[in-house]
Amino acid sequence: STGQAIDTDSMTLTRFTLGEQKKVPHATGDLTQLLVSIQTAVKAISSAVRKAGIAKLYGMAGDVNVQGEEVKKLDVLANDLFINMLSSSYTTCLLVSEENKTVIEVEQERQGKYVVCFDPLDGSSNIDCLVSIGSIFSIYRKNNEAVPSVSDALQPGNQIVAAGYALYGSATMMVISTGNGVNGFMLDPSIGEFVLTDPNMRVKEKGKIYSLNEGYANLWDPAVSEYVQGKKAKKAGARYGARYIGSMVADVHRTLKYGGIFMYPATADAPKGKLRLLYECNPMAYLMEQAGGQATAGKMRILDIVPTDIHQRTPIFLGSSGDVQEIIDLYKKHN
Ligand code: AHM
Ligand code: MG
Repeated sequence: STGQAIDTDSMTLTRFTLGEQKKVPHATGDLTQLLVSIQTAVKAISSAVRKAGIAKLYGMAGDVNVQGEEVKKLDVLANDLFINMLSSSYTTCLLVSEENKTVIEVEQERQGKYVVCFDPLDGSSNIDCLVSIGSIFSIYRKNNEAVPSVSDALQPGNQIVAAGYALYGSATMMVISTGNGVNGFMLDPSIGEFVLTDPNMRVKEKGKIYSLNEGYANLWDPAVSEYVQGKKAKKAGARYGARYIGSMVADVHRTLKYGGIFMYPATADAPKGKLRLLYECNPMAYLMEQAGGQATAGKMRILDIVPTDIHQRTPIFLGSSGDVQEIIDLYKKHN
């Protein structure tokens, strides 16, 4: 045959979510519409991350030309894209972004029933060295008729309607759950569509990898110290490998694919850890549970934490159920 094989019946992300919604009686199609707007943002961010159009910005070799600093910084661009696409989708009323101090109320004529919390570009310290970065989001329903306010964003993760992330790695991928398991969609740049490549993702019951920033070892609590020490066993069977990218989306995606545990624990100088509950920990905890894993703050399930501040932090341990259970048991022991 000539040319490339083109699938004439491929399962795109939009087609998939439409199918999911048709199973729900009286569904309006709003969630599909909302996810379409996020896909648009993610495609544009992906293109910017891959430096499409860079020749225009820097000029060809030898040219004294427009300089890099006039380029909108990637994290600002990603935030603008998320806000603009979501608020013009007619499906959202309130947005929480890592980049904005306060909640963003969508203008009244465009309001819909969903509240979206997002980190538009996580792992920004990795941007300049071209290591993987990602976007993270969770979607809630506004559950009252009042004017949208911050209280609508302070719902616990167990109220999530849908959540997901985009990983700008060696390929671009979106991993999503709408409450019926987890599905992964790879961006096919030749057609500009996310195509289902990882249906019904399940995390292993137990893995062989632990992942955390070991530079903080002297600041850990006894449960974490004992846990990590245990993974450095001399016996080959008991020993775990260490992997830490420092981009939550990449570290969580690897944990989902290969199993094991990702941790960002409390430290002596950061008793709530670093990662944010609303748009980093909750969506990842939801996905991990939907894939058969666990996510805990140590003594409490992440998804049961009732938020009091949109930017609050929490320690987090997530991944394979058996691995996370070990740390839960250690917290009981050291209580
Ligand atoms: P950011 O929101 O400023 O990008 O920080 C979040 C990132 C996560 O992606 C990652 O898990 C963590 O920070 C790494 O932190 P550390 O450098 O302390 O290990
Ligand atoms: Mg972040």
